[in-house]
Amino acid sequence: MTSHSRGASKPSRPQRPHPPRRRTGPTRPPVEDPARLAALETLRAVRQRDAYANLVLPQLLRDRRITGRDAALATELTYGAARAQGLLDAVIEACSDRPLSEVDGSALDALRLGAYQLLRTRIPSHAAVASTVDLVRAELGSGIAGFVNAVLRRVAEQDEAAWVDELAPDPDTDPIGNLAFAHAHPRWIAQAFAEALGSRDEPLKRALEADDARPAVHLVARPGEVSADELAAITGGDVAPYSPYGVHLEAGAGDPGDLEPVRERLANVQDEGSQLCALALTRAPLEGTDDRWLDLCAGPGGKAALLAALVGLDGGELIAVEKAPHRAELVRKITSGLPVTVHVADGRETDFVEGAFDRVLVDAPCTGLGALRRRPEARWRRQPADVGTLTKLQRELLTEALRLVRPGGVVGYVVCSPHLSETVGVVTDVARRTGAEVLDTRELFPGVPDLGDGPHVQLWPHLHGTDAMFCAVLRRPS
Ligand SMILES: C[S@@+](CC[C@H](N)C(=O)[O-])C[C@H]1O[C@@H](n2cnc3c(N)ncnc32)[C@H](O)[C@@H]1O
Repeated sequence: MTSHSRGASKPSRPQRPHPPRRRTGPTRPPVEDPARLAALETLRAVRQRDAYANLVLPQLLRDRRITGRDAALATELTYGAARAQGLLDAVIEACSDRPLSEVDGSALDALRLGAYQLLRTRIPSHAAVASTVDLVRAELGSGIAGFVNAVLRRVAEQDEAAWVDELAPDPDTDPIGNLAFAHAHPRWIAQAFAEALGSRDEPLKRALEADDARPAVHLVARPGEVSADELAAITGGDVAPYSPYGVHLEAGAGDPGDLEPVRERLANVQDEGSQLCALALTRAPLEGTDDRWLDLCAGPGGKAALLAALVGLDGGELIAVEKAPHRAELVRKITSGLPVTVHVADGRETDFVEGAFDRVLVDAPCTGLGALRRRPEARWRRQPADVGTLTKLQRELLTEALRLVRPGGVVGYVVCSPHLSETVGVVTDVARRTGAEVLDTRELFPGVPDLGDGPHVQLWPHLHGTDAMFCAVLRRPS
């Protein structure tokens, strides 16, 4: 750790480059670098119009017929740069003579792309700088290219560890801030992880590290159609460790939507943690009828498809509610052929009579802090203020679910977030006000290790290889 590393006394760097004006002359011939061009354009869409990188990039790759190594490179650079944005920006700012807010937006996209290659890939420095600068020259002109060149050369002077050492908060006075910086997470999110884990050191470090890695693709075999063994054999994947229907594919194994079993609706893409949470609801012991299940927040329908296939095996049915019409349509598509009726409605104001269902799933809208691995830019977009709005809605949906389930019936409350306000906070509050019993949900996750003290279940990427899903199963008093 360098002594000049923190606070106001940054090392002096002579002749920092000034961002020039954007060039207005004739356009340059296009560069032959489809992967980086696609990455740059996706980063621009993310910055300019709040687009989702994991929607924009695959479309762009398809439209331009970018495949193989170029597609893999574009994916790595785009998602990597989007994920690491906060860290990259801090380094870029340290290498520029002015705040990022005064740097041309398109130049900033290119700087993020270049800095990511320099700090987090094995691409040789000269190639990372030259390829980025060529792209900028062709796209934006030589003035901006000169600026980008100068900043990237400064970035290349040190590796990632040295930059973290120089720029991150002091680990002794702010251990969470230090880990957040080093693993490219906003501090408030690292803080939320720390509170859920009850740790500010090694477990937090491992959680943030795992959250920064590219996740494997998980598939779910449709019960009654194909087994996990068969699905693994067809796709070349591995049977998942915990879900009896799960299969893991290697990260970067191509677009899983193109796999034949997925196209033929024998399987869907679904994180193993989501599978386990849906299954937990089905595993809770129940006396009496068990053939009317409700999914109160169903879109886009991953859990609805799994639940419907299971209830359908015993002749039952699933009612799926979704507020957003376009997402309700996705539920219809993914559950076609299954015993499902889809309603477009607010789950807090449906027409169902009280006590109409045996099991109810509330897979509530949430911050998604548990699935940051899968949504590259999400961590920089979410704000702490989102939490308060969401927990109110979560409490209302869970309360309504406990009214719609019959006495003795069970409700699964699931969020893809480890934030305590969205998880234990909501469940404890609603259970207290409704008198519902919180079951020891760990018993509904057989074979899954490291589930803590219960009664709730919090899954983690670093412990379970799943998204950080939270699940609590509650029973309405008889
Ligand atoms: C976390 S997602 C559910 C994911 C889904 N269960 C799956 O496995 O594919 C939450 C869903 O709730 C929907 N939603 C938000 N507010 C709602 C409300 N008041 N009533 C019903 N659905 C709502 C959102 O549009 C979103 O599709």
